[in-house]
Amino acid sequence: MNKKVKIAPSILSADFSKLGDEISDLDKTDCDYIHIDIMDGHFVPNITIGPNVIKSIRGYTDKTFDVHLMIDPVKKFIPEFANAGADIITIHHEIKENVFDSISVIKEFNKKVGISIKPSTPAKVVEKYLDYTDLILVMTVEPGFGGQDFLHKQLDKIKDIKGMIGNKKIDLEVDGGINLNTSKKAINAGANVLVSGSTIFQCSEYKKIIKDLRNV
Ligand code: DX5
Ligand code: ZN
Repeated sequence: MNKKVKIAPSILSADFSKLGDEISDLDKTDCDYIHIDIMDGHFVPNITIGPNVIKSIRGYTDKTFDVHLMIDPVKKFIPEFANAGADIITIHHEIKENVFDSISVIKEFNKKVGISIKPSTPAKVVEKYLDYTDLILVMTVEPGFGGQDFLHKQLDKIKDIKGMIGNKKIDLEVDGGINLNTSKKAINAGANVLVSGSTIFQCSEYKKIIKDLRNV
Protein backbone atom coordinates (compact mmCIF):
# COMPACT_ATOMS: atom_id res chain seq x y z
CA MET A 1 0.00 0.00 0.00
CA ASN A 2 1.30 3.38 -1.01
CA LYS A 3 0.63 5.29 2.21
CA LYS A 4 2.13 8.48 0.89
CA VAL A 5 -0.58 8.91 -1.74
CA LYS A 6 -3.51 10.98 -0.51
CA ILE A 7 -7.00 10.67 -2.00
CA ALA A 8 -9.27 13.69 -2.36
CA PRO A 9 -12.80 12.82 -3.52
CA SER A 10 -14.30 15.72 -5.49
CA ILE A 11 -17.90 16.28 -4.40
CA LEU A 12 -18.67 17.82 -7.79
CA SER A 13 -19.94 14.36 -8.75
CA ALA A 14 -21.79 13.72 -5.46
CA ASP A 15 -25.59 13.63 -5.16
CA PHE A 16 -26.30 17.22 -4.09
CA SER A 17 -29.83 16.31 -2.97
CA LYS A 18 -28.25 14.45 -0.04
CA LEU A 19 -24.90 16.15 0.32
CA GLY A 20 -24.75 15.73 4.10
CA ASP A 21 -25.15 11.96 3.75
CA GLU A 22 -22.51 11.90 1.01
CA ILE A 23 -20.03 13.70 3.28
CA SER A 24 -20.87 11.32 6.16
CA ASP A 25 -20.20 8.38 3.84
CA LEU A 26 -16.83 9.85 2.83
CA ASP A 27 -16.06 10.45 6.50
CA LYS A 28 -16.29 6.69 7.05
CA THR A 29 -13.65 6.02 4.36
CA ASP A 30 -9.92 6.57 4.71
CA CYS A 31 -9.85 9.42 2.19
CA ASP A 32 -7.52 12.26 3.19
CA TYR A 33 -9.05 15.44 1.83
CA ILE A 34 -12.52 16.36 0.59
CA HIS A 35 -12.11 18.35 -2.61
CA ILE A 36 -14.67 21.11 -3.12
CA ASP A 37 -14.87 22.79 -6.55
CA ILE A 38 -16.02 26.40 -6.61
CA MET A 39 -16.86 27.81 -10.06
CA ASP A 40 -18.16 31.25 -11.03
CA GLY A 41 -19.33 30.90 -14.65
CA HIS A 42 -16.68 33.47 -15.59
CA PHE A 43 -13.22 32.02 -14.93
CA VAL A 44 -14.66 28.65 -15.99
CA PRO A 45 -17.83 27.93 -18.00
CA ASN A 46 -19.81 26.42 -15.11
CA ILE A 47 -21.32 27.50 -11.77
CA THR A 48 -21.27 25.40 -8.60
CA ILE A 49 -21.60 26.38 -4.96
CA GLY A 50 -20.51 29.10 -2.55
CA PRO A 51 -19.26 29.39 1.05
CA ASN A 52 -22.70 28.78 2.61
CA VAL A 53 -22.75 25.22 1.30
CA ILE A 54 -19.28 24.61 2.72
CA LYS A 55 -20.48 25.92 6.07
CA SER A 56 -23.51 23.62 5.98
CA ILE A 57 -21.44 20.47 5.37
CA ARG A 58 -18.59 21.36 7.73
CA GLY A 59 -20.28 19.63 10.66
CA TYR A 60 -20.39 16.26 8.89
CA THR A 61 -16.66 15.52 9.02
CA ASP A 62 -13.34 16.62 10.47
CA LYS A 63 -11.50 15.72 7.27
CA THR A 64 -9.48 18.40 5.51
CA PHE A 65 -11.57 20.56 3.18
CA ASP A 66 -9.50 21.12 0.04
CA VAL A 67 -11.23 24.05 -1.64
CA HIS A 68 -10.42 24.64 -5.30
CA LEU A 69 -11.42 28.18 -6.27
CA MET A 70 -11.98 28.52 -10.01
CA ILE A 71 -13.14 32.11 -9.63
CA ASP A 72 -11.83 35.52 -10.66
CA PRO A 73 -11.97 37.89 -8.84
CA VAL A 74 -11.03 35.71 -5.87
CA LYS A 75 -9.32 37.85 -3.21
CA LYS A 76 -12.46 39.47 -1.77
CA PHE A 77 -14.10 36.04 -1.29
CA ILE A 78 -11.23 34.33 0.56
CA PRO A 79 -12.32 35.43 4.07
CA GLU A 80 -15.77 33.89 3.50
CA PHE A 81 -14.30 30.58 2.36
CA ALA A 82 -11.86 30.58 5.26
CA ASN A 83 -14.62 31.27 7.79
CA ALA A 84 -16.89 28.65 6.21
CA GLY A 85 -14.39 25.93 7.09
CA ALA A 86 -11.90 25.59 4.23
CA ASP A 87 -8.53 24.13 5.31
CA ILE A 88 -6.61 24.38 2.04
CA ILE A 89 -7.52 27.24 -0.30
CA THR A 90 -6.31 26.80 -3.86
CA ILE A 91 -6.38 29.66 -6.33
CA HIS A 92 -5.43 29.75 -10.01
CA HIS A 93 -2.25 31.20 -11.45
CA GLU A 94 -4.23 32.38 -14.51
CA ILE A 95 -6.49 34.88 -12.70
CA LYS A 96 -6.26 38.55 -13.68
CA GLU A 97 -5.82 39.63 -10.04
CA ASN A 98 -2.42 39.56 -8.35
CA VAL A 99 -1.90 36.01 -7.07
CA PHE A 100 0.44 37.02 -4.23
CA ASP A 101 -2.19 39.41 -2.80
CA SER A 102 -4.56 36.45 -2.41
CA ILE A 103 -1.80 34.25 -0.99
CA SER A 104 -1.32 36.87 1.75
CA VAL A 105 -5.01 36.80 2.64
CA ILE A 106 -5.07 32.99 2.79
CA LYS A 107 -2.08 33.08 5.15
CA GLU A 108 -3.70 35.80 7.31
CA PHE A 109 -6.49 33.31 7.98
CA ASN A 110 -3.94 30.56 8.81
CA LYS A 111 -5.10 28.36 5.97
CA LYS A 112 -2.93 26.27 3.69
CA VAL A 113 -2.20 27.79 0.27
CA GLY A 114 -2.61 25.97 -3.03
CA ILE A 115 -1.72 27.20 -6.52
CA SER A 116 -3.36 25.57 -9.52
CA ILE A 117 -2.38 25.66 -13.19
CA LYS A 118 -4.51 24.90 -16.23
CA PRO A 119 -3.40 22.39 -18.89
CA SER A 120 -2.03 25.09 -21.23
CA THR A 121 0.07 26.76 -18.51
CA PRO A 122 3.76 25.72 -18.51
CA ALA A 123 5.42 24.15 -15.47
CA LYS A 124 7.96 26.96 -15.10
CA VAL A 125 5.38 29.46 -13.77
CA VAL A 126 5.25 27.43 -10.57
CA GLU A 127 8.83 28.35 -9.61
CA LYS A 128 7.92 31.74 -8.17
CA TYR A 129 5.35 30.21 -5.81
CA LEU A 130 7.51 27.43 -4.34
CA ASP A 131 8.45 29.37 -1.20
CA TYR A 132 4.88 30.52 -0.56
CA THR A 133 2.65 27.52 -1.22
CA ASP A 134 1.71 24.27 0.51
CA LEU A 135 0.24 22.61 -2.56
CA ILE A 136 0.50 22.73 -6.32
CA LEU A 137 -2.53 21.52 -8.26
CA VAL A 138 -1.97 20.41 -11.84
CA MET A 139 -5.20 20.30 -13.84
CA THR A 140 -5.28 17.22 -16.03
CA VAL A 141 -8.52 18.34 -17.72
CA GLU A 142 -9.79 21.80 -18.69
CA PRO A 143 -11.33 23.07 -15.44
CA GLY A 144 -15.12 23.35 -15.42
CA PHE A 145 -16.64 19.88 -15.50
CA GLY A 146 -16.25 16.43 -14.03
CA GLY A 147 -16.12 13.27 -16.10
CA GLN A 148 -13.64 14.41 -18.76
CA ASP A 149 -10.75 12.34 -20.13
CA PHE A 150 -7.29 12.67 -18.55
CA LEU A 151 -4.88 14.75 -20.65
CA HIS A 152 -1.83 12.52 -20.88
CA LYS A 153 0.41 15.37 -22.08
CA GLN A 154 0.25 16.75 -18.53
CA LEU A 155 2.34 13.84 -17.21
CA ASP A 156 5.60 15.48 -18.29
CA LYS A 157 4.53 18.66 -16.53
CA ILE A 158 3.86 16.71 -13.33
CA LYS A 159 7.37 15.21 -13.57
CA ASP A 160 8.93 18.65 -14.12
CA ILE A 161 7.09 20.15 -11.15
CA LYS A 162 8.01 17.18 -8.96
CA GLY A 163 11.64 17.96 -9.81
CA MET A 164 11.21 21.62 -8.87
CA ILE A 165 9.58 20.71 -5.54
CA GLY A 166 12.48 18.42 -4.60
CA ASN A 167 12.50 17.93 -0.83
CA LYS A 168 10.19 20.84 -0.06
CA LYS A 169 7.05 19.92 1.88
CA ILE A 170 4.62 20.73 -0.91
CA ASP A 171 1.74 18.48 -1.99
CA LEU A 172 1.62 17.79 -5.73
CA GLU A 173 -2.03 17.24 -6.54
CA VAL A 174 -3.62 16.20 -9.84
CA ASP A 175 -7.23 16.92 -10.74
CA GLY A 176 -9.25 15.60 -13.64
CA GLY A 177 -9.82 12.24 -15.31
CA ILE A 178 -8.35 10.16 -12.50
CA ASN A 179 -9.39 6.50 -12.67
CA LEU A 180 -7.68 3.20 -11.82
CA ASN A 181 -5.54 3.47 -14.95
CA THR A 182 -4.55 7.16 -14.89
CA SER A 183 -3.98 7.22 -11.11
CA LYS A 184 -1.01 4.93 -11.59
CA LYS A 185 0.46 7.19 -14.27
CA ALA A 186 -0.01 10.30 -12.13
CA ILE A 187 1.62 8.65 -9.10
CA ASN A 188 4.53 7.42 -11.21
CA ALA A 189 5.00 10.95 -12.54
CA GLY A 190 5.33 12.25 -8.96
CA ALA A 191 1.85 13.22 -7.78
CA ASN A 192 1.05 12.50 -4.11
CA VAL A 193 -2.56 13.74 -3.97
CA LEU A 194 -5.20 12.44 -6.38
CA VAL A 195 -8.50 14.25 -6.82
CA SER A 196 -11.24 12.00 -8.12
CA GLY A 197 -14.88 12.83 -8.73
CA SER A 198 -16.73 10.64 -11.20
CA THR A 199 -14.63 7.52 -10.59
CA ILE A 200 -15.44 7.55 -6.86
CA PHE A 201 -19.07 8.65 -6.99
CA GLN A 202 -20.02 6.27 -9.81
CA CYS A 203 -18.89 3.42 -7.58
CA SER A 204 -21.35 2.10 -5.00
CA GLU A 205 -18.58 1.28 -2.52
CA TYR A 206 -16.65 4.44 -1.73
CA LYS A 207 -14.33 2.68 0.73
CA LYS A 208 -13.25 0.13 -1.85
CA ILE A 209 -12.68 2.49 -4.77
CA ILE A 210 -10.68 4.89 -2.57
CA LYS A 211 -8.51 1.99 -1.40
CA ASP A 212 -8.07 0.78 -4.98
CA LEU A 213 -7.09 4.23 -6.26
CA ARG A 214 -4.42 4.49 -3.60
CA ASN A 215 -3.08 0.99 -4.13
CA VAL A 216 -2.57 0.95 -7.88
C1 DX5 B 1 -12.91 20.07 -12.74
C2 DX5 B 1 -12.77 19.92 -11.25
C3 DX5 B 1 -12.49 18.55 -10.78
C4 DX5 B 1 -13.54 17.53 -11.12
C5 DX5 B 1 -12.84 16.23 -11.39
O1 DX5 B 1 -12.82 21.40 -13.08
O2 DX5 B 1 -11.73 20.75 -10.76
O3 DX5 B 1 -12.21 18.52 -9.39
O4 DX5 B 1 -14.48 17.30 -10.10
O5 DX5 B 1 -13.77 15.31 -11.81
P1 DX5 B 1 -13.34 13.92 -12.45
O6 DX5 B 1 -12.58 13.16 -11.42
O7 DX5 B 1 -14.67 13.31 -12.79
O8 DX5 B 1 -12.52 14.23 -13.67
ZN1 ZN C 1 -11.02 20.55 -8.63
